[in-house]
Amino acid sequence: MLLYHSGRYQRSAVKVFFAQTVFQSPELLLLCMPWLFEDLEELAKQVLSNKFGFFPKDTPIPSLLALFGMGLPLTQGAEWARHRHVVSPAFTMDKLKTMTKKMAACAQSMLEWWQDLATQAEGQREMEVSSQLQELTSDVISHTAFGSSYVEGKEVFQAQKELQTLAAESLLNVNIPGYNRYIPSRRNLHRWKLERRVRNTLMHIIQGRLDSKDSSYANDLLGLMMESRRSNTDQERKRQILSMNEIIDECKTFFFAGQETTSHLLTWTVLLLCTNQEWHERLREEVLRKCGTGITNADMLSKLKLVTMVLLEALRLYGPAVMMQRMAAKDLTLGNLVIPKDTRLAIPIAIIHRNKEVWGANADEFNPLRYKNGISKAVKHPNALLAFSIGPRACIGQNFAMLEAKTVIAMILQRFLLSLSPNYIHAPADMLTLQPQYGLPILLRALKV
Ligand code: HEM
Repeated sequence: MLLYHSGRYQRSAVKVFFAQTVFQSPELLLLCMPWLFEDLEELAKQVLSNKFGFFPKDTPIPSLLALFGMGLPLTQGAEWARHRHVVSPAFTMDKLKTMTKKMAACAQSMLEWWQDLATQAEGQREMEVSSQLQELTSDVISHTAFGSSYVEGKEVFQAQKELQTLAAESLLNVNIPGYNRYIPSRRNLHRWKLERRVRNTLMHIIQGRLDSKDSSYANDLLGLMMESRRSNTDQERKRQILSMNEIIDECKTFFFAGQETTSHLLTWTVLLLCTNQEWHERLREEVLRKCGTGITNADMLSKLKLVTMVLLEALRLYGPAVMMQRMAAKDLTLGNLVIPKDTRLAIPIAIIHRNKEVWGANADEFNPLRYKNGISKAVKHPNALLAFSIGPRACIGQNFAMLEAKTVIAMILQRFLLSLSPNYIHAPADMLTLQPQYGLPILLRALKV
């Protein structure tokens, strides 16, 4: 019927039909077929920057809920605003700058171990680096956000790794209402056990903070969330307070989001440096010129222009977030498309990042120089770099991630020469985040400093 209404409807209806046939989905996976849409970047911008709640997030599946809880990424509307209001102060640039010392200290202890391995090998040493970087970023988020350590949070990280695998598998499964949530199937029993493990460990960390003799909680993320419960007036309390369950859910979010994404950014950056040795050399030269061979600080890091350009290019080519999902809250038009209420929209970050029409003919190539005059000059659409998303729901941890990545890359380059092991197999896999399926084996050689 719609086909005969108007040209506009006709176009939408053909796409709905196509999406339903190809994906066998009752909803339209709109932006999944970019070749059907002109100006995909503009459509993505309109969806992501909408401030009226027309494009909320989808209802989360149980395995995603188990991973994040109802933390910041999954809450909506007023709930989301309250959570974001409480946690935002932990991510101001001034706060982040004070964290670089802790980031550098965590990196230092990993690199000392690398140094020992390289020395024992008396030359170069093969090492799988992605798991090392994952432990490092876990250690960093534990220290900076929770006043804890990787060892204390290990139970959480390990259980979350398994929950992540379950969530990635569930996204491909048929969703039978009720079954995935309530039936004691083998998978659900396993998920419930992991959830309990995460919760108990987090309660232990929080209890430690409650028992501490210090009258004011520490000035980190956990401290801020707990301090919010002590707000003075009733009005303030209503506006700012997070319940204990909400704090636990935010802890789940930050334990996961704080390490998983940044570790893959670091891994892909190391791969790109190994495969582009001239950039490896240029970056090392820049790091030694701006930071010397000592411990880096935030002011030094802000001068690392080439390192920043390489990280941006890694985020474009191998951004840890591959796709974002939204829903249409009501019947809407988007560009010249008519979108029925409850339509699911998938925003394909990875495809937008390699679109030759906006990034140029060399979109598939590693070319950090494209950012030499800033991101807006590198690309035809100002919002085509979506690695951290844009709009009100953009990543709250993006400056944290960039600071951490710069610290770690600078400290590695001060001390080591890296090259790719012949055992590396290039197989990027989307497991909620984009990661090298078989890890990243590299050859490590210590420099004389
Ligand atoms: C390279 C590193 C990172 C990448 C690529 C990344 C990417 C993203 C993206 C694309 C979103 C938007 C998701 C959506 O709207 O569907 C997001 C949201 C979020 N990220 Fe990150 N992220 C990174 C690091 C971090 C870190 C280090 C933290 C915490 C310390 C963090 C915490 C969050 C939170 C809490 C949200 C939800 C924000 C909201 O809805 O208000 N992320 N991130």
